[in-house]
Amino acid sequence: MRANLKGRSCLTLEEFSADEIGNLLDDALSLKADKRARVFGRHLAHRNICLIFLKPSCRTRVAFAVAAADEGAHVEILSKDDLRFGVKETVKDIARVLGRMFDGIAFRGFDHAIVEALAEHASVPVWNALSDEHHPTQALADLMILREEFGHLRGLKLAYVGDGRNNVVTSLAVASLKMGIDLSIVAPPELQPNGAMVAQLERLKIGSTGSVRVTADAAEGLAGAHAVYSDVWVSMGEEALLETRIAQLRHLKVTPQLMALTGKAETIYLHCLPALHDLDTEFARAHPDACEVDDAVFEGPQSRVFDQAENRMHTIKALMVASI
Ligand code: CP
Ligand code: NVA
Repeated sequence: MRANLKGRSCLTLEEFSADEIGNLLDDALSLKADKRARVFGRHLAHRNICLIFLKPSCRTRVAFAVAAADEGAHVEILSKDDLRFGVKETVKDIARVLGRMFDGIAFRGFDHAIVEALAEHASVPVWNALSDEHHPTQALADLMILREEFGHLRGLKLAYVGDGRNNVVTSLAVASLKMGIDLSIVAPPELQPNGAMVAQLERLKIGSTGSVRVTADAAEGLAGAHAVYSDVWVSMGEEALLETRIAQLRHLKVTPQLMALTGKAETIYLHCLPALHDLDTEFARAHPDACEVDDAVFEGPQSRVFDQAENRMHTIKALMVASI
């Protein structure tokens, strides 16, 4: 394995250098090839991994569980019924207990400050499995699919369309600036990056070969893009905003016409999933205008969303192996 991140947490990706992220991607590619060949390591043998999920998850949770099992580790899953951070026990106390028993902790929750406090006090690596502000393990899988598709990252043009200030786009922007990607965030003014996100991106722009440009104009943002990326319009915890978001974002639904704005037939389409893309789900039938992507794109030849989803597991495996 090339990456050595022993004892280090992953909260936003900002904590790793471009070389370290590149090494992680090399490891993920090699672990993927090994798994295809049915070759498994024992990099995590006799290790115990704690998975804390205070929000729902399919991909991230199974990615950690399968990756751990492939490398010989045991996982224990804790939910909001098991842990009540700050209610009857402080985050600091919970972190110190878990750190005595586990070799690494994955945490999905709301306030980013909780995962920061866990990392500060646990004395073992903590991996942010999604907070309201960041989704760094998603960004690793996003970088991996781009590497697989284009063979390199530096100089790629990536366009993200939708809520321009959520966890997924924030981590995509951090990853882009780290790895020399030119990211356009296409979002209406009221959903463009602000506050802490802008401050972090300004800091990361210094010395970066990548860039982050923000625009409300889809034609401007998508021109020449190698990949177009979208996420749901309403993130977990924001359900009450659904109708407002539909009104703000419906003109940015990813349709074949929107994809054509790239001017390139070979542009790929990415999504972190879960996606609202057709009327086969109860939620989409109840809110048909909430679909952020047209089935013609999601199921079409440009879509790489399931390869991208698979890469969640390979990149999370590489991250755990490197940091434990
Ligand atoms: N992309 C992602 O994080 O999916 P889950 O919410 O299913 O984990
Ligand atoms: N922005 C979405 C991502 C889900 C993987 C959310 O936070 O719900």
